[in-house]
Amino acid sequence: MAKEKTLEDLFHDTLKDIYYAERKILKTLPKMARAAQSPDLKAAFEKHKGETEGHVERLQQVFELMGKRAQGKTCDAIEGIISEGEEIIEEFKDTAALDAGLISAAQAVEHYEITRYGTLRRWASELGLADAARLLEATLKEEKETDQLLTRLASANVNKKAA
Ligand SMILES: [Fe+2]
Ligand SMILES: [Fe+2]
Repeated sequence: MAKEKTLEDLFHDTLKDIYYAERKILKTLPKMARAAQSPDLKAAFEKHKGETEGHVERLQQVFELMGKRAQGKTCDAIEGIISEGEEIIEEFKDTAALDAGLISAAQAVEHYEITRYGTLRRWASELGLADAARLLEATLKEEKETDQLLTRLASANVNKKAA
C-alpha cells in the first residue's frame, strides 16, 4: 500500500514550488526593469526585486521552522508565466504597447504568488505553525500591494497614452 501522505507533506511540497518560483522571479525582475519604458514602472520592478529577496529569506525561515533544508522543486506554472512575459518583451520591444504588456505579465506572476501564499498561510495555521503563518502572511501582503500598484500604473499608462 502507498505510504500515507499528510497535509504537512503537501505543505512542504508547495513550499518547494514557491521557493523555486521566487528564485526564478528574482532573476527575471531585473530584465523587466530594464525593458520597462516608464520610469515609474522601472522603479516598481526594482522595488519589488528588493521585496522578493525578502520573500526568499522568509521561505528559508519557514523551511528552518519545519526542520527541513530549503529546497526548490521545478514549478512549471511559473516557467510558463515567465516565458510568456519574455515573449512579450521580444515581440513588443520598441512599441507603445510594451509597458502594458510588461504590467500584464507581472500581474500574472503576482496572482500566482498570491494564490500560493494564500494557500500556504492557511495550511500553516491548520498545521499549528503560527510563526510560519505569520511569515507567509507578511509576504502575501507585499504581493497584494504590488498587484495593486501595477493596476494603478496600468491606469496611469493608459491615461498618459490617451492624453
Ligand atoms: Fe514574491
Ligand atoms: Fe511578487
